[in-house]
Amino acid sequence: MERIPLAKPYWDDECEGAALAALSSGRWVKGPQGRLFGEEFAKWCGAVSAVPCQSGSAALWAAMRLLDIGPGDEVIVPGMTFIATATSVSLAGATPIFADIEDDYWCICPDDVENKITDRTKAVIGVHIFGQVFSPKLREICDRHQIALVEDAAQAHGATLNGVKAGAIGDIACFSFFPSKNMAVGGEGGMITTTRNDLAEKMSRLVDHGRNDELESIELGTNLRISEVSAAIGRVQLKHLQEWTDKRRENSGSINHSTLIRPNSQHAWHQLCVFSDNPNQLISKFNEAGIDARVHYPIPCNRHQVYSDHAQHNSPLPVCDAIAHRLVAIPVHPSISQSDIDRINSVLNP
Ligand SMILES: Cc1ncc(COP(=O)(O)O)c(C=O)c1O
Repeated sequence: MERIPLAKPYWDDECEGAALAALSSGRWVKGPQGRLFGEEFAKWCGAVSAVPCQSGSAALWAAMRLLDIGPGDEVIVPGMTFIATATSVSLAGATPIFADIEDDYWCICPDDVENKITDRTKAVIGVHIFGQVFSPKLREICDRHQIALVEDAAQAHGATLNGVKAGAIGDIACFSFFPSKNMAVGGEGGMITTTRNDLAEKMSRLVDHGRNDELESIELGTNLRISEVSAAIGRVQLKHLQEWTDKRRENSGSINHSTLIRPNSQHAWHQLCVFSDNPNQLISKFNEAGIDARVHYPIPCNRHQVYSDHAQHNSPLPVCDAIAHRLVAIPVHPSISQSDIDRINSVLNP
C-alpha cells in the first residue's frame, strides 16, 4: 500500500521545459521570467503589483521594510502561526506583539488585536492559517487606527474573502512557494504583493538592494531576487493553481472533518487540520494506515526559545495554549485519489 504524503510537489514536462529554457537562455537572474511571473501573479490575485522573491520569509521581511517598520515599533501577530511571521518583525528591529486566535476559525482574534494596539503599533500581520482567511474585522480595525494590514498568505494561494483573493485584501501580502505549498517553483521562492500604488515602486527596489534605475541604493534592501529558473517554473504552476485549488476544496468536502469555514469566504485548504484531544494517538493511527499526519503548530510563537526574553514569553494566550498542540494536519492535496480519501476517512471514522 502506497504511503499518502502530506504534500506532493507537482512536476511535469512543461515545468521541466520551462526550467531548461530559462537555463539555456543564459539569463539566470533579473530577466523576463521574474518580471512576467510578478505581473501574472498580480493579475491572478487582483493586486496592483507583485514582485517575486526568494521565500515567504524574505517577503515578510520586505513587507516590514516597505512599511518603514523598525526599532521602537510594534507589530501585532497571531500566537499560532509559522515562526517566520513573528521573526520577520524581530529581524526588522521591531517587536512582535502576540495576539490570541479565534476558537472557531483559528486565525488571529480581532478583539485581542484591538486590545493590544498602542501608539507604537505600526501594523498587524494577519495569517490566513492553513488557507482559512482572517476576519474581515481586521481591515476595519486597521483602517480605524490608521495602521497597515499585512497578509501572511504563505498558506492561502486562492483563498477569498467577500470575493477578494488573498493577496488583494491587505496593504501588502506575502506568499511562499516552499515545495509543500499550494504552488511551488522547484526550490525556495516567495512573492510580495501590494494593493497600494504608492508602495509598488519601493517594493521592486527592496528585493534588489534598494536600488533605483540609476543603480543608486536609496534605501536599505538586499538581494532577495528570485532566479529565472524558479520564476519560469512558477509561471507554469500558476496556470494550474485554480484547478488545484478547486481540487483541494473538493477533497476537503469528501473528508470527514468538522473544520468551520468563515462565512463569505473560500478556504484554500493548504492544510486540513483536525482537532484531537489525543493528537499522538491519532497520528499513530494515521501512520499505521500509511498516511502522513503532523501537528501544526505545536508551540505558540511567544513560547519559542527565541522569544525567551520577550515580555509575553510566559503570558497566556488561552486559545493558542489550549489548541495549538491539538491540531493534526492530514493530506488534502490535489494528488490524492478517491481511494486515498476512503483510507483517510476510515481512520477518522473507524
Ligand atoms: C504562515 C507562514 N508564514 C511564512 C512562511 C515562510 O515561508 P518560506 O518557508 O517560503 O520562507 C510559511 C512557510 O513555511 C508559512 O506557512
